[in-house]
Amino acid sequence: MKTIITGSGIGIPRNAVPNAMLTTLMDTSDEWIRTRSGIEQRYYADPGQGSAELGAIAAQNALAAAEREPADIDAVIFATMTPNYFFPGNGPLLQAQIGLREIPTFDIRQQCSGFLYGLDLADSLIQCGKHQRILLVGAEVHTPFMPWERGWGITIGEEHGPISEEDYAFNTSIRDRTVLFGDGAGAVVVEASKNGDRGFLGAKLFTDGSNAEALYVPGVGFRHRPYVTAEQLEKALPIPQMDGRTVFKEALSRMPAAVRAVCAAAGVAVDEIDVLLVHQANLRIVEGVAKQLGMSADRVPHNIERYGNTTAGTLPILYHECVADGRIRPGMLICFTALGSGLHWGAALYRA
Ligand code: ACO
Repeated sequence: MKTIITGSGIGIPRNAVPNAMLTTLMDTSDEWIRTRSGIEQRYYADPGQGSAELGAIAAQNALAAAEREPADIDAVIFATMTPNYFFPGNGPLLQAQIGLREIPTFDIRQQCSGFLYGLDLADSLIQCGKHQRILLVGAEVHTPFMPWERGWGITIGEEHGPISEEDYAFNTSIRDRTVLFGDGAGAVVVEASKNGDRGFLGAKLFTDGSNAEALYVPGVGFRHRPYVTAEQLEKALPIPQMDGRTVFKEALSRMPAAVRAVCAAAGVAVDEIDVLLVHQANLRIVEGVAKQLGMSADRVPHNIERYGNTTAGTLPILYHECVADGRIRPGMLICFTALGSGLHWGAALYRA
């Protein structure tokens, strides 16, 4: 018995925000963003639209693609680092929004590796016989991490005009992170199948907590009493902090090693991978991983130019697009790989 993906879908907000728009809010340039990251635009959610809502759109599209009804689903795994609430997680919100039965829902938080971890968890739950049909969602709304006092409304066309020097300076102080992230969601229906060769061949997942502070949110957490204070807000501590160079270096060494490890465990050569889906944090990282594995660019698709980094949303969005346009076809060997905050990373192999 194998675990297979029977349908996928995405939920993308309507507001496309090109690099040029961001240059009106902070000291940055289209040229810097393109050459350093490969990003040309990203999407921002509407006010009131959280990751649960985007996830619900993706989930409904995935159910339709799999030709399944909400009643067919017997578990949910929701991967996000930007849930609507501190608690409860997005699982119960999704359950109510799309009318699922009173089934178990798991909220997991492995950031950019969330979908990868979710795939392995879904496979385990199916292989041990506990569940037969799981909805796996990866969704993020990063924009609340960008507390632009004035300018936020400009990005979604609700305000116009120049912003103050003070706001411009503040936005510039966090530009190294904010230009990279976008909002978006992807979902897949994962099912048990007795049908032949298709399905999961295995995953290798890793964690190195000694690098937890290479990418983290220092403020707002239960080591503080109270867990959020005016002082934290004043010091901008609820905004993620990132040692970009460390994460970049780790990504370039860890992902190729994980791909090699999962291939070795499954008894396949790296050369046999038809399509390598790499987490989209930076086009230079995607190209570097491909180069280290000796894979040609046509086998390593990217969409970071349109979405930026959508964290747990990235891999299911990329998978969905590749299935929709025929770059992933039945019989192909697919490898998923990601690295992100934690640090968590890994790779998974799948026969489409
Ligand atoms: N616009 C213009 N200039 C900028 C911007 C910007 N948006 N951001 C930074 N700069 C400037 C810096 O201030 C610096 O100027 P200085 O040399 O005068 O000090 C210069 O550009 C170079 O900055 P670097 O940080 O060295 O730039 P680098 O080439 O390393 O690129 C980046 C930075 C894009 C963040 C890269 O390091 C990266 O992609 N890192 C990995 C990110 C990642 O993989 N994250 C994991 C996933 S996310 C998750 O898990 C949630």
